Amino acid sequence: MADDDHIGAVLARLSREQKLALVRGATDPEGTATGYISGVEAAGIPPFRLVDGPLGIRAEGQCATAFPASIATAATFDPDLARRQGAAMGREAVALGQDALLAPGVNIIRVPHCGRNFEYLSEDPVHAGVVGAGLIDGIQSADVVATVKHFVANNQETHRTTVSAEVDERTLRELYLPPFRAAVDAGVGSVMTAYNRVNGTHMSDHERLVGDVLKGEWGFDGYVVSDWYGLESTVGAANAGMDLEMPGVAAPGAAEAADSDTADGDEGFEWPDGIPDATRAGLFGDPLADAIDGGEVPAGRLDDMVRRILGQMDRFERLDSNRTAAEAGESSDALAGELDSQRHRDIAADAAARGTVLLDNDGVLPLDDGADVAVIGPNIDEPKLGGGGSSETTPVHSVTPLDGIDSRAEGAVSSAFGVPRIDSVSLFDLLPFVGEDDEADGAAGDTADREPSLDDAVTAAENADVAVVFVRDATTEARDRESLALPGQQDELVSAVAAANENTVVVIRSGGPVELPWREDVAAVLEQWYPGQADGDAVAAVLYGDRDPSGRLPVTFAPESEYPTAGSDRRYPGVDDEVHYDEGVFVGYRHFDDADVDPTYPFGHGHSYATFEYGEAETTGEQAVAVPVENVADRPGREVVQAYVRPPSAAVADRPERELAGFEAVQLDAGERQTVELTLDDLAFSRYDTDSGWTVDTGTYTVEIGRSSRDIRTTATVDR
Ligand code: BGC
Repeated sequence: MADDDHIGAVLARLSREQKLALVRGATDPEGTATGYISGVEAAGIPPFRLVDGPLGIRAEGQCATAFPASIATAATFDPDLARRQGAAMGREAVALGQDALLAPGVNIIRVPHCGRNFEYLSEDPVHAGVVGAGLIDGIQSADVVATVKHFVANNQETHRTTVSAEVDERTLRELYLPPFRAAVDAGVGSVMTAYNRVNGTHMSDHERLVGDVLKGEWGFDGYVVSDWYGLESTVGAANAGMDLEMPGVAAPGAAEAADSDTADGDEGFEWPDGIPDATRAGLFGDPLADAIDGGEVPAGRLDDMVRRILGQMDRFERLDSNRTAAEAGESSDALAGELDSQRHRDIAADAAARGTVLLDNDGVLPLDDGADVAVIGPNIDEPKLGGGGSSETTPVHSVTPLDGIDSRAEGAVSSAFGVPRIDSVSLFDLLPFVGEDDEADGAAGDTADREPSLDDAVTAAENADVAVVFVRDATTEARDRESLALPGQQDELVSAVAAANENTVVVIRSGGPVELPWREDVAAVLEQWYPGQADGDAVAAVLYGDRDPSGRLPVTFAPESEYPTAGSDRRYPGVDDEVHYDEGVFVGYRHFDDADVDPTYPFGHGHSYATFEYGEAETTGEQAVAVPVENVADRPGREVVQAYVRPPSAAVADRPERELAGFEAVQLDAGERQTVELTLDDLAFSRYDTDSGWTVDTGTYTVEIGRSSRDIRTTATVDR
C-alpha cells in the first residue's frame, strides 16, 4: 500500500476526539520528553516524544553527550562532521526513548548580542543552510524527526514573545528564509515556528509565511509545531497552517505563580520578558473543535494536521503497523550503549577541536610539549558546556580546561583563578514557576573554597614559560547580552597576565563575538565557543598542535559600535515592540563590506598551524570552480577554501559586494597539493525582486576564492 493510502486508512479509523488528541501535546507519563503526543493506542498510534535540543539530548533527568555549541559546529565549516554529530544525537535520542529532536536552530545571526547565537549557525544563509542540512541529515539518518527552528526572524531574545520583526520581502527571501528552505530541501520532518511576530503577525498565525511560503511554495509536507506556549490563537493558527500545539498543557505551578503574584501586587502579574505565558495551553483542544463546528476552521484542516504528523511517524517507523512497541523498546535498548559511548565522545571532541578558531598567533602556538604552563582564569575548573535554556545538557563525562592541559602537558602546570568566577545564567532561573530546588544547576560551581587573587595569577604567569588565560561570557535563551565586553574583571585579568608574561595565550569561550581590548598585547588568541563536554581535551589538543585549529569564523568580530544594529533602538532592541530591519540584507560581512569598515576579525577568518598557497582558480562549469591549494608548511593542516561571488557591476546598486557561494575543507599533508572543487550556490548569484521574484542579472560574475571574506587569494569569472 502506498504511504498515503496507509496514512489515509489510519486516519479513517480515528474519531474526531482522537484526531484532536494528536494535534495537541499532553503530559508525558515518563516525564522525560520536552513535548509529548499521547497517541491513540486503539488505532495503533503509539505515544510520540519530542525532546530538546541542538547541543545534545535534554531528556529530563537523563545524561547525554554534551556536544559543542551549534556555532562551534558551524565554525568547523564541515557538513560531514555536522552529519556525524546529528547522527550521534539521533542515536542518543532513540536510546532515551525519544522520537523527534528539537534541533537544529538556523536563525541568522543578525544581532551580536542575541542570547541564543550559540544555538545558531551563521550570519550567512548559505553557510547556515549547508551546516543545518548536514545536522538534519544526520539526525534523520538515525530515524528521528529533526525540527528546524525558529521559523522565522527570531533574531533576538529581548521581547521575543511579542516583538515584531519589520522586515522587507527581499531581505526575508535573501537572508532569513534560505536556511529554512535548505532544511526543507534536506527533507526535514518538522518546522518549529518562532515566538515573535513578523511584519505585525505572530509567526504561529502567519498564513503567508507558514501556509503559502513554507507549505505552498516550498512544498513542505511534514508538520509545523509551535514553540512552547507559542501558539497565539486557535482559528488564526489552524488556518495559517500550524499542525501541532506544544506543549499543549500548562506548566505545573504556572497558574499558581501567576495567581499568587497577582494577589500580591496591584498591577497584576506579568510574565518576565522572554518567558511565554506558560498557562496558555489547549488552544488546539476544545476551542479547535468548536471552531470546526462553527465553520471557522475547515474540518479538512484537522485531517491535514493529523496526516502530516502521522506521515512523519510512519516515515520514521513509529507507527505500530511498521514497528511493535516491543521492537521500539528493543531499538532503544540496543542503542543504550551509545549514551556516552567512545564513538560519541570522539565526535564531541572532534567537533570541539575542529570548531576552535585561531584568531591570532605570533608563533607561540603550538606549545612545546615541555613548556611550563600557567593555566589562569576564573572558571578553569569547570567545563563550558553551553549557554542557558532549552539546549542545556548534562553529560556523563566532561573535562575541565585545567585537567585537559594537565594531562597533556609534559612541563610543569600551575594554576590561578585570578578574579571572581563568572556565573552561568539560565532561562530556568527566570521561570516564575520553577522552585529554588528544581532550578537547573547553572554550573555556577562552588565559590566557597576560593579566594581569587590577581597577584596569584600574575605570579603564576611570571613563573611559567607560557600563560594560558581562559575567559568566558555568560549567555542564555530569553536574554540578550547587554554588551559585547567580557563580564566581570576578566579584561583586567588578561591585561595583568599579559604584562607579566609575553607568551600569553587567551582562550575565549563565548556564544558569539566579544570585544578583546587587550588583543595587541597577547601572543595568541583562540575562540573556542562553548566546547561542550570535551572542553579541556579539545583545547589541549589544539594548544599543543595535536590538532590543527581549523575552525573559521561564522560571524564577524568587530567593536560593538560598528555592527549594523548599533546606535539605533529602532533596529535593536526595537521601539514600541517593533524592530526594524532597516539594514536590509546588509548584515554581518555584507554590512562591513558595504560600510567599508575593517572588522577586528572578518567572517571566514581563522589561522592554521600550516601555511597554504593558492594557485589560479579556474571556472569548471556554470556554477563550479576549481583551485589548486598547496600546504607549504612542514606540518599537516586543514584549510577551508571559501568562494564568494561578486555581482556583475554596480548596475544594481544595492547588492552586497560579495556573498558566500560555497566552501570546501581540505586536509593536506606537509608539501601536499590538491585541486579543490567548489560548487557555487545559486543564492549568491540571485537577488529577489519584489515584482518579478528571483532574478539573476545577466553579466560577468567574479568568483573570489580565499581564506576569508577579507583574504581573497585568486579569482575566476562566471558568465550568467
Ligand atoms: C525554545 C525552543 C525549545 C522549547 C522547548 C522554547 O523556550 O524557544 O527552542 O525547543 O522551548 O524546550
